[in-house]
Amino acid sequence: MKAIVQDEYGPSHTLSLGEVPTPRPGPGQVLIRVHAAGVDYGVWHIMTGLPLVGRLGFGLRRPRNRVPGMDLAGVVESVGAKVTDLRPGDEVYGAGTGTYAEYALARPGKLARKPANLSFAEAAAVPVSGVTALQVVGQVTAGERVLVIGAGGGVGSFATQLAAAGGADVTGVCSTAKVDLVRSLGARTVIDYTREPLTGTYDVIHDIAGNRPLRQLRGLLTERGRLVLIGAEGGGRWFGGLNRMLAARLTGPFTRQRLDAPISLTRTADLDTLRDLIEAGTLRPSVGRTYPLAEAPKAVADLEAGNAPGKLVVTVG
Ligand SMILES: NC(=O)c1ccc[n+]([C@@H]2O[C@H](COP(=O)([O-])OP(=O)(O)OC[C@H]3O[C@@H](n4cnc5c(N)ncnc54)[C@H](OP(=O)(O)O)[C@@H]3O)[C@@H](O)[C@H]2O)c1
Repeated sequence: MKAIVQDEYGPSHTLSLGEVPTPRPGPGQVLIRVHAAGVDYGVWHIMTGLPLVGRLGFGLRRPRNRVPGMDLAGVVESVGAKVTDLRPGDEVYGAGTGTYAEYALARPGKLARKPANLSFAEAAAVPVSGVTALQVVGQVTAGERVLVIGAGGGVGSFATQLAAAGGADVTGVCSTAKVDLVRSLGARTVIDYTREPLTGTYDVIHDIAGNRPLRQLRGLLTERGRLVLIGAEGGGRWFGGLNRMLAARLTGPFTRQRLDAPISLTRTADLDTLRDLIEAGTLRPSVGRTYPLAEAPKAVADLEAGNAPGKLVVTVG
């Protein structure tokens, strides 16, 4: 089958279109014919092997999975002997491994029925970013002042909609090109960080861009406000933005502010919740651009360059 392959860590030109054997599902796995696959920052981290500490999980010398990609939307091709709740022909979306390919493997616990009112490309934009936003923003209560930093990106475009749908007074932070998008997602106020400083006082801050000092963010919070660190960018090669997450966890017990640094996991239950919200018209993925499979390296490069309004998606076949 055709797939994007990578044999060493590095920038997007280490990705290329190649031929690899079609994977065979193990007893608890599902083989999916991929129609579309989302591009998110996790793919960039695994492609570059940065921060270096991540290689303990991604593979020490080269990516453990030769084919990149996590998000997918497609049709079940075959199922392993122990899989009872999915069958060939089912249209699904969720997270798998090696999804920048014609076929990919996934576990049933990370898949759900595809939203009926979305194309495969739109559905593939949802899983990792949508579930992350749902798990962290789900706790917003009506009337809270919520600041979403990185509101025009993958996670941010879902977080902004979910916080607004929960009745929060949302301020979105983004660059100039994404101001209209962020307003359309439900932010009552938009701060273009390239033109003005971050000001105001907030009950909750979702830091998705992940590159501002803790001290600055805490200064924008109320005395008992909640800071949720989702992004972990910048910092040194070894630990990157993880330093900041560690600092938040260590500082947390000594302040009245709540400092969280959650790690989200894609699960069927969350995908089901997102599908219900999408089918009810409460939530909509914001697909900025689609790329054919052969151009997946360009899609990842565009994500890194910050050119992604909302989500970027690779379409297959
Ligand atoms: N904790 C978890 O479980 C989890 C799960 C998924 C993702 N993540 C992390 O979340 C982060 C974002 O992922 P993503 O897929 O949403 O990436 P993304 O689509 O690139 O979104 C990041 C957004 O941040 C904006 N941004 C960059 N610098 C900024 C700054 N200085 N101030 C304000 N906004 C800025 C970018 O665009 P503009 O600058 O043009 O506005 C972009 O829209 C990554 O670090 C990723 O690893 C964490």
